[in-house]
Amino acid sequence: MTPLVLSDETFRQIRDFIYEKCGIFIPDNKKYFIENRLGKKIQEKNLKSYEDYLYILKFSGDKKEHNTLFDLVTTNETFFFREPQQIDVFNGEVLTKVIAENSKAGRKDIRIWSAASSTGEEPYTLGMVLLENPGTAGFRKEILASDISDSVLTSAKSAVYGSYSIRNVSEHYMKKYFTNSNQQYQLAASVKSMVKFMNVNLIDDKDTKSFRGLDVVFCRNVLIYFDEKAKQKVVSALYDSLRPNGYLFIGTSESLHNITRAFKPTVINKVIVYQKV
Ligand SMILES: C[S@@+](CC[C@H](N)C(=O)[O-])C[C@H]1O[C@@H](n2cnc3c(N)ncnc32)[C@H](O)[C@@H]1O
Repeated sequence: MTPLVLSDETFRQIRDFIYEKCGIFIPDNKKYFIENRLGKKIQEKNLKSYEDYLYILKFSGDKKEHNTLFDLVTTNETFFFREPQQIDVFNGEVLTKVIAENSKAGRKDIRIWSAASSTGEEPYTLGMVLLENPGTAGFRKEILASDISDSVLTSAKSAVYGSYSIRNVSEHYMKKYFTNSNQQYQLAASVKSMVKFMNVNLIDDKDTKSFRGLDVVFCRNVLIYFDEKAKQKVVSALYDSLRPNGYLFIGTSESLHNITRAFKPTVINKVIVYQKV
């Protein structure tokens, strides 16, 4: 088979297409990223060139084709209890305040969104924490979880994990919420049933506009793939999704500096939490 050649011009067009559709920005010096991720797929499809693939992406109007592309270019790394200091702050001061405010306002539910949930470890971590927190008793607990990639959503719904994913889970949680079968860890139905998964493209207003009135949003380790303009768009959608005084967690290596001033950043136990004001 003749090796595929990716010209600079076609690279730019594919890169711009990806950016326009999902906000992920691939800089000029990362042409190899496109070659590594897309080259094999193009040959599997018996296409002769990157140009043929680009043509299909642009003109076939096939949503499935776009989804396959998103699957190929996204990074889905995640695990349970990632950045545990944030989970502690959520479980401590943030939930305490949410519970107090919701009680005062007569709201009988706690509503969370894991926006870019990948294979589900983040929303399921939040689910277990909510179940274990005695203050949440009597509240309806709703966790929405979303991602742009269909394949990670399918895997999230099955809720079966390998040892890498569960390596930060304490013995207490392991015993209570997982069943081990040949090093495959199945999550308990009590946690699975708390989370509703859906396909949402964070830079598409049509997808995000139905998220409203949330108490807490987690959007961790995805903003790093966006440029400033895409970050601003996503963060503005997250802002609109929260109720007044609601909380936003982004990844510990991410920042809203130069992106927005709409949130009030608060430091709790060395963790930055953004509050909608
Ligand atoms: C590194 S994972 C982060 C998972 C989890 N939040 C965590 O911190 O462990 C990033 C996820 O963002 C998703 N993603 C990338 N671009 C997106 C977009 N435009 N809309 C929604 N999700 C997107 C990817 O599919 C991937 O699953």
